[in-house]
Parts: sequence; C-alpha cells; structure tokens
Amino acid sequence: MAKLMKIRKAIILAGGSGTRLRPLTLATNKHLLPLYDKPVIYHAIEKLVEAGISRIMVVTSPDHIDSFVRTLGSGQHWKPRNTDESQIQIAYGIQNEPGGIAQGLYIARDYVGDEPCILFLGDNYFEDDLSAHIRDFTEGAMVFLKKVPDPHRFGIATLGKEGEVLSIEEKPKKPKSDLAVAGIYLYDNTVFEKMRDQKPSARGEYEITYVNNKYIKEGKLRATHLKKKWSDIGTIDSLIDVSHHIKKKHDRHKK
Ligand code: DAU
Repeated sequence: MAKLMKIRKAIILAGGSGTRLRPLTLATNKHLLPLYDKPVIYHAIEKLVEAGISRIMVVTSPDHIDSFVRTLGSGQHWKPRNTDESQIQIAYGIQNEPGGIAQGLYIARDYVGDEPCILFLGDNYFEDDLSAHIRDFTEGAMVFLKKVPDPHRFGIATLGKEGEVLSIEEKPKKPKSDLAVAGIYLYDNTVFEKMRDQKPSARGEYEITYVNNKYIKEGKLRATHLKKKWSDIGTIDSLIDVSHHIKKKHDRHKK
C-alpha cells in the first residue's frame, strides 16, 4: 500500500486582477467581497480548517496585502479542528504581478519546504467535505473534478476507460469533455521541481495545468469527483448564486 503523506500546509491564492467583478474590485480585492455573511476567503480558510489544516499561507498582491492582514490577522479568528496543533497560523506572501497560478504557488516554495501541500484558489467555493482525501493523501497529486455547462472557462480533464486522467487542457476552444478541474490541488514535495523549465503560456501566465500534466506524464495524478456544489466566484452572477445557496443552507439550519 502507498505510504500516507501528512499534509500540514496550504497555500491560498488571493491575487489576480478581478477585472470581471469591476467596479466592485476597484477599491478592494475579489476575495474580500462578501459571500453571504463572510468575505470570500473566509470560506476557503474554513474549508481547510475543517480538514485539519493549521498552517496557511495567503498569497496576494502588494495593493491589498494590508487589507488581508487586517481581515485575517495571524489566524486568531479560527480554532484548530481535527489536528493536534494548538493554533491556526496564517502567513503571507506577495505576488507582484498576476503572472499565473503556478507562479503564485512558487512564491510559497520556502514556506512549504520539503512537505506536501494543498493549493487552494481563494475564489473557489466547495461544499464537499475534503477531509478524507487530504487525510489519505499519498505520493503524486490529486485533482477534483466537476461537470460544468461552460467548459471553455476551465481546465478540462479527459478521462480514460478506467477513469484515469489522460490530459488536462486549459480553457479549450473545443472541449473534449465537460469535466472541469476545480481550484483545489493536493501535491507531494516534487511540485516545485515540476515548474523548473516552465514558460508562460500563450496568454502570458504560468499555468497550473502545465504542472498537473507533468504529474500525468509520470502516471501520478489521481482524480476524484466532487458530489456537492462547487463554484468559482469569477462573476457577479456566481457571487450572488453562491451567496443565495449559503443563505438557504443557513435558513434550513435555523428551522
Ligand atoms: O476555478 C477553477 C479554474 O481556476 C481551473 O479550472 C483552471 O484550470 C485554472 O486555471 C483557474 O482558472 P481561472 O481562469 O478561473 O483562474 P483565475 O485567473 O480566475 O484565478 C483563480 C484564482 O487564483 C483566483 O482566486 C485569483 C488567483 N490568482 C490568479 C492568478 C492568475 C492569483 O492569486 N494569482 C495569479 O497570478
């Protein structure tokens, strides 16, 4: 049986330009906007804390780092869960320009050191409990898939007969499937070495899809399917849709 790799650390990316949410994002960052009752990034932190993660680095732009520090502090708003650690510790990294998701993760390489890690795109909302996948992580990488109606907006996975991922294409013009790769990735400690020869893509970004395809070539990328709601908060409609979804859940709990 493959050896379990304990994941302690997560990187939340909260940079980017948020152009599709302007004018809401002219004075603030997308991840600080309200998603029902909390800033978008709180939902990401809570998902990770629920899964026993207590060390989190938030990577964002120099323009908004002070607002993140004011909003999240050192992590004192959260209590550790499902871990022996006594506190949640939040660290910060700065990405000078939005040069891509892989570039954002690379900023955290010293923080991660020789450990496995979670990469969490801060504008993603997940309802599934991801704890078991994180707890049972072994060598290689894991991605999470979900059927979407608009595959040209995402990284899209093509699966083989056994459900294995054959390839991932970033925002394909002619998608080969409707299975999007969601914005949480589990990586072993070879992730940074896989970025060594990486060049920016045609749209000028260091793509995370490049890194995931490297794991596929080694036969080390596993995939699992999300069962519950997943959305990225890339547009005003998704911000409102997910806010309504959370409100309904809260209302059901109140009854
Ligand atoms: O939401 C899932 C999708 O996220 C995946 O299916 C795609 O494969 C992946 O490339 C990504 O696509 P998006 O176009 O949605 O990425 P976006 O530019 O919106 O950025 C996603 C998050 O990462 C967002 O929270 C902002 C942050 N980010 C992004 C870039 C490009 C950074 O912190 N720095 C960056 O340089």
